[in-house]
Amino acid sequence: MALVNTTQMFKKAYAGGYAVGAFNINNMEIVQAITEAADELRSPVILQVSAGARKYAKAEYLMALASAVAKDTTIDFALHLDHGADFDICKACIDNGFSSVMIDGSHHSFEDNIAVTKKVVEYAHARGVTVEGELGRLAGIEDDVKVSAEDSSYTRPEEVEEFVTRTGVDSLAIAIGTSHGAYKFKPEQCTRNADGVLVPPPLRFDILEEVAKRLPEFPIVLHGASSVPQEFVKQINELGGKLPDAVGIPEEQLRKAASMAVCKINIDSDIRLAFTAGVRQILSEKPQAFDPREYLSVSRANVKALVKHKITDVLGSDNKL
Ligand code: G3H
Ligand code: 13P
Ligand code: ZN
Repeated sequence: MALVNTTQMFKKAYAGGYAVGAFNINNMEIVQAITEAADELRSPVILQVSAGARKYAKAEYLMALASAVAKDTTIDFALHLDHGADFDICKACIDNGFSSVMIDGSHHSFEDNIAVTKKVVEYAHARGVTVEGELGRLAGIEDDVKVSAEDSSYTRPEEVEEFVTRTGVDSLAIAIGTSHGAYKFKPEQCTRNADGVLVPPPLRFDILEEVAKRLPEFPIVLHGASSVPQEFVKQINELGGKLPDAVGIPEEQLRKAASMAVCKINIDSDIRLAFTAGVRQILSEKPQAFDPREYLSVSRANVKALVKHKITDVLGSDNKL
């Protein structure tokens, strides 16, 4: 149905105690998997595009896929720039028809982050586009930037009111212990459960609570929120892959965050794992297969099932259209 910005989506999500999934898109199969899942479950959804996705698929192709979604489904969805590095990439996406952008000034000083975020907000709001800012630094890999655990930093709650007031952002990504990629924590940061699987340190819900107290009814965003499903990691490893000690955020902690002020939860790595497991499975079962449609169909089905599970069991955004 409609390409929308995130204003109404987040208002309803906050009031309803659920979060909207923001899933990274890189090709047609991933777009179809996400939007078919959302359509069947009557869930709002955010399709997000990183600088790497723009490089891989080209902005025009991703825009065309988004137009196809608007024609082919009956969902409300936002097309969002993920981790916009500067004003120029945000402007380019706004000019291309994105309904939402993120300006990620988290690596700048507080004042420089405010300055660039404010500039993007002024340009975006004049065109009906919503803006996500970020305070605090997540560990892990985002676009071509690697942030080590030592260089990461939790969001300082005492900064959020000034940041939001001075920039006018519509939502704020905060760092409370999530991390990008499939290796979110080093084994020494974790404990192990009875099966030997790594159990990461819990998220800092105290910081989230303090931020929510200071910003009543304001939508908070969680990046780096993949759970790294161990069934996919196991399948990939058993079929010739090598993903040692891949570990993510436990889903019950994400559910809790979604019931609080978190209105947008970012998921990319889990899609990559589901997709890769599908390719490995079919190529190992049928070594004679060489039609991409055959193995990409399995990957697409895996991603669709994963997104349905996230919507129903983690985000709680089903039947919210
Ligand atoms: O936050 C990072 C996202 O997972 C996008 O990753 O830059 O490799 O497309 P990418
Ligand atoms: P994951 O790597 O945990 O999927 O995080 C994705 C993300 O935050 C995209 O911005
Ligand atoms: Zn991110």
